[in-house]
This record gives sequence, structure tokens and C-alpha cells, in this order.
Amino acid sequence: MGKIIFDNTKEEVELDDGCPIAQVCEDAGVPFACTEGVCGTCVIEVVDGMENLSEFTQEEMDFLGEQDRERLACQCKLKGGCVKITF
Ligand code: FES
Repeated sequence: MGKIIFDNTKEEVELDDGCPIAQVCEDAGVPFACTEGVCGTCVIEVVDGMENLSEFTQEEMDFLGEQDRERLACQCKLKGGCVKITF
């Protein structure tokens, strides 16, 4: 069991290891559209714990390019532990 911490709303949500983070992000107010890593609507900023998220998908690399702060919430899974994000 890990946790997603929303830095901007101070909300914390527990999540099973290996689960996609999309639903908890949507519940917290992150907007979604395509859910396939194409539109970029769901972009989030990872404040802490990037290493606890799944590897970048090809869609994320295509959309976000080479960087280590932003992710597409529809593409990430929680590996475990805590991840702090803002949106
Ligand atoms: S919802 Fe379109 S990229 Fe995530």
C-alpha cells in the first residue's frame, strides 16, 4: 500500500502497489480527456517520489519529452511508497 499526496490540496489517498493513479487523480480534480497519453490534459507535476512511479511510457516521452518533473496521470502506476504531486 502506498500513498498519493496532492500538494496543492493537501489531500492524501492510499493506493495499492501497482495500481494506476488515474482514478485517485481524477477524484482529486485532475482533468482527463483521452486517457491514452495523447492529449496532455492530465499532466501533473511530481514534487517528490518520482522513483515510486512506473517508468515513462512511450506516449509520455512523445508528449513531455526529456524531463523529470512532469507525468501524464493517465499513464502512471504507483510502484509503492509515497508520491507527492501537484496539478
Ligand atoms: S488524459 Fe489525455 S494524456 Fe492523459
